[in-house]
Amino acid sequence: MNSFAQTQRSITIGFGPGYASSEIWKDLQSKLVIPTEIVSITAAQRYNPALILLDHHLLREMDFPQWVEEFPEAIFLGTDSLNIDADLILSSTLPYKQTIKLLEMACYQWVLKSEKTERAKMRDTSFRYLNKLADISISLSAEDDLMTLLRKILTEGQNIACCDAASLFLINEINDHERELVFKLTQNDSMDFPFEEMRFPLDESSIAGYVAHTDGELNIPDAYQLSDTVPYRFNQSFDRRTGYRTKSIFAIPLANKQKEVIGVLQFINRKKARSLKITDEKSALAYTLAFDSDINVLLQALASQAGIAIENTILQNDIKALFEGFVNASVAAIEQRDPTTSGHSFRVADLCVGLAESVSLSNLTRLRNSRFTDTEVRELRYAALLHDFGKVGVRESVLVKEKKLTAGSLENIQYRILLAKERLKTQSLSKQIAMFRNGGLDESRFAELDRQLAVDTDLLDEFYRTIVEANEPSMLKEDNREMLDRINAYRMESQDGDLSIITPEELDLLSIAKGSLSPTERKEIESHVVHTQNFLNHIPWTKEFSNVPTIAAAHHEKLDGTGYPYGMTESEIPLPSKIMTICDIYDALTASDRPYKPAMLAERAIDILVDESKRGLIDTDLVQVFIDAKVFHVIDSKEYSTSQEFSSFSHHPCDVDLHDDSHGRHD
Ligand SMILES: [Fe+2]
Ligand SMILES: [Fe+2]
Repeated sequence: MNSFAQTQRSITIGFGPGYASSEIWKDLQSKLVIPTEIVSITAAQRYNPALILLDHHLLREMDFPQWVEEFPEAIFLGTDSLNIDADLILSSTLPYKQTIKLLEMACYQWVLKSEKTERAKMRDTSFRYLNKLADISISLSAEDDLMTLLRKILTEGQNIACCDAASLFLINEINDHERELVFKLTQNDSMDFPFEEMRFPLDESSIAGYVAHTDGELNIPDAYQLSDTVPYRFNQSFDRRTGYRTKSIFAIPLANKQKEVIGVLQFINRKKARSLKITDEKSALAYTLAFDSDINVLLQALASQAGIAIENTILQNDIKALFEGFVNASVAAIEQRDPTTSGHSFRVADLCVGLAESVSLSNLTRLRNSRFTDTEVRELRYAALLHDFGKVGVRESVLVKEKKLTAGSLENIQYRILLAKERLKTQSLSKQIAMFRNGGLDESRFAELDRQLAVDTDLLDEFYRTIVEANEPSMLKEDNREMLDRINAYRMESQDGDLSIITPEELDLLSIAKGSLSPTERKEIESHVVHTQNFLNHIPWTKEFSNVPTIAAAHHEKLDGTGYPYGMTESEIPLPSKIMTICDIYDALTASDRPYKPAMLAERAIDILVDESKRGLIDTDLVQVFIDAKVFHVIDSKEYSTSQEFSSFSHHPCDVDLHDDSHGRHD
């Protein structure tokens, strides 16, 4: 039995009652071979023999093909009188010794066969685990929410190791010299308990601390049987508080790409079956197993993927936070330059997010296929936050132009009028002095000169009053328009020739029919959209946010092609831009932080939106959703920065549309 004995495998040979009296079993019996009589199928199932020696009795219980089907792993033997297609036929004429030899060979054959099956099974299992690890790797790398990722890691680890609980610790760098361990998450199949994130020193006194500190694994068969010589202790407080019993632990460091430890994964109480519940010491001792090397290899593979995935997610979140911070700082900076409209970009962004989310839920036929993904909503939000960033490209003097005349012009006009008055006075006095010199003091002529001076001076005062009134951005009165013509025609004599009260440029500005901007200045304000687009085009957006410049650049376009800067029409304007246009107009109308006009009530602003949509300027369905879903409420309860510390007038770029004569009804 040399070759079989070398395998050290024990084997049960089941034989029918017809062979019970055979002497052969005594000679075969050893530590490795266990001959067992089987009288029924039930007995055969109980012993699950490796070799089955069939006889007439057993074949009456079940025919040969059924035996093979029932025991696919077994090797079947029979005698030549049975007439079956057994693996080995024991001939009645075979000498005793050779029969023994044949049975030994059959045992060996079974061992080889079973080893082959086991190897195939192991290969299958390895393939399964490899596939599983590949799936886990893909799934972990796709997760960008840190806590969801951590939960996934623990769950996958529990699945692989069939363990009851798992915990995850991350290292937090307090400063250049100090680090601590943060207990981030724990999961337990058997118990529900409130979890609270905890921090503790990163030293060798705890199991997780030891693993993090030494960058080595710990495989502990029983947490309550730790040797006195090890520096770490098991903290029993959780067990004491809950009645739980922690037994086997496998703690493994989590490392980043640079092989630096960033945390610790701890798997607890490997179980015989996942469904078993561990609620006390008794169940813990009965159901748990130690972690073995086969499982630990898989957990190590999981940990190496998990470490990199965690680092990537933290880095991604940091980059996201950095970018958010940069965008917010940029918006805050531009709105500080234009304090009277501060908060506008943040409010428009919130309204846009609200409207996009409501559109995704809308049942309106035309919007049924318009569903925004989370990424598309974020893309729209960035576009909305930065939509007016191009104001940086608009000259301050235009942006802050409150009245029709440019800063300083009115003072210049005032001085010119004073000069004109002085000149009139001088002329009148000169005439009176000449009268004296010529000795002909004519009282009535003298008085006439005084009266004329008063009339001329009054006219200049009226000129000034008219100019002040015409300078206001409200509608230019017809009377004032006529008076401006008179002012323009007025000349005062000077040594350098005739001087006028107002320059042709000042006349043009004062003649603006409505608002304070000349057509050129209006164009300059409108250019903020192009500046926004140019600015956004310089940002290397990732693929998912690549439409931010296009969306922002179309926020002043109108469905009928009357918008700017490109005069796009309905089919050309992206849906997110149509959303932004509505939110932009709504906020421009209702913002309460404008000194130059009172805030409009939401109801009135909505009426205007409806009116604009009826006129074919903005999207009717989107306006409907804006109203039905009460999207405008999203900004009601929120505090927005309305920095008035630099308070001065400035133009809301979005008001350019509203001041435009064709849309004049907004005012
Ligand atoms: Fe805007
Ligand atoms: Fe704008």
